[in-house]
Amino acid sequence: MSRMENKLNLHQLQIFRTVAKHSSFSRAADELIISQPAISIYVKQLEKTVGTPLFEKVGRQVFLTEAGHCLNDYCERIFALLRETIQAMEALKAGENGTLRVAADTTAGVYVVPGYLGLFRRTYPKVTISLEVNNRSTVLKRLLLRETDLAIIGQVPDNEASLQVVPFLSNELVIIAPPGHRLATRKNISVQELTEETFLMREPGSGTRATAERFFTLQGIQIQVGMELGSNSAIKQAVANGLGIAIISRQAITLEHRCGSLVILDVEGFPLHRYWHIVHLHNRALPPPAVAFKKLMLENDI
Ligand code: PGA
Repeated sequence: MSRMENKLNLHQLQIFRTVAKHSSFSRAADELIISQPAISIYVKQLEKTVGTPLFEKVGRQVFLTEAGHCLNDYCERIFALLRETIQAMEALKAGENGTLRVAADTTAGVYVVPGYLGLFRRTYPKVTISLEVNNRSTVLKRLLLRETDLAIIGQVPDNEASLQVVPFLSNELVIIAPPGHRLATRKNISVQELTEETFLMREPGSGTRATAERFFTLQGIQIQVGMELGSNSAIKQAVANGLGIAIISRQAITLEHRCGSLVILDVEGFPLHRYWHIVHLHNRALPPPAVAFKKLMLENDI
């Protein structure tokens, strides 16, 4: 930084601009509510710093010199940029720009979060959005490593004291089968009867799988797992093609259920009632876009 850069300050420039605007030291003193001698001292210091006179005095009036005109033009730009800087800071504070970093499990990331992001984009068009979709255990790891600000997941860990967990939307798990399945039209199917079926399960680390396993363990029944598949789409296709039945989030099969390519079995104890959760670190101040997104999810039902 040069010596001149070190010495120039915004207060001096503000005083200089005001004198230039009024062509008068006394009127500048009135506007800025400081004494006229103080104004003269600031202007003298500024002239010393830039090394050349900025005003010429003719009677009680002052006129800008060529250097004064040049500095005044730069002042316009400096103060315009300052106003823009203040606006950008205010907007960041209000969550109107910046980056929203969200990670969601594979079900929420595809079937729940995009709807909320659409709403968010309409309200905060200048915020850059980053949505990462991964299975639940990866999403939680990313959150703990501070690589994302908010996580949206179905199944929350039991004892994770560092996390703040807020439920925001119902998340039911249902059992699906192809329309021609022997149980498709039956009512009140017992859980015990499911032991005769082949289940298609999500991959380890999936929240859907963790919840299904917990349910069957609590019921004390052993199911037959025919295949493990790494996504909800793969599960739906495999079920529709008769490879087995599966447990899946109701939100993930809205379309297939409506068009009849998959049916929901009426099994005792189902649907399993759960929630989607907004999760973030306790000891971390959320960036404003994340605060705004969390609020929007809590206030809207999609
Ligand atoms: P998953 O989580 O996509 O990792 O299976 C979904 C859920 O827990 O409901």
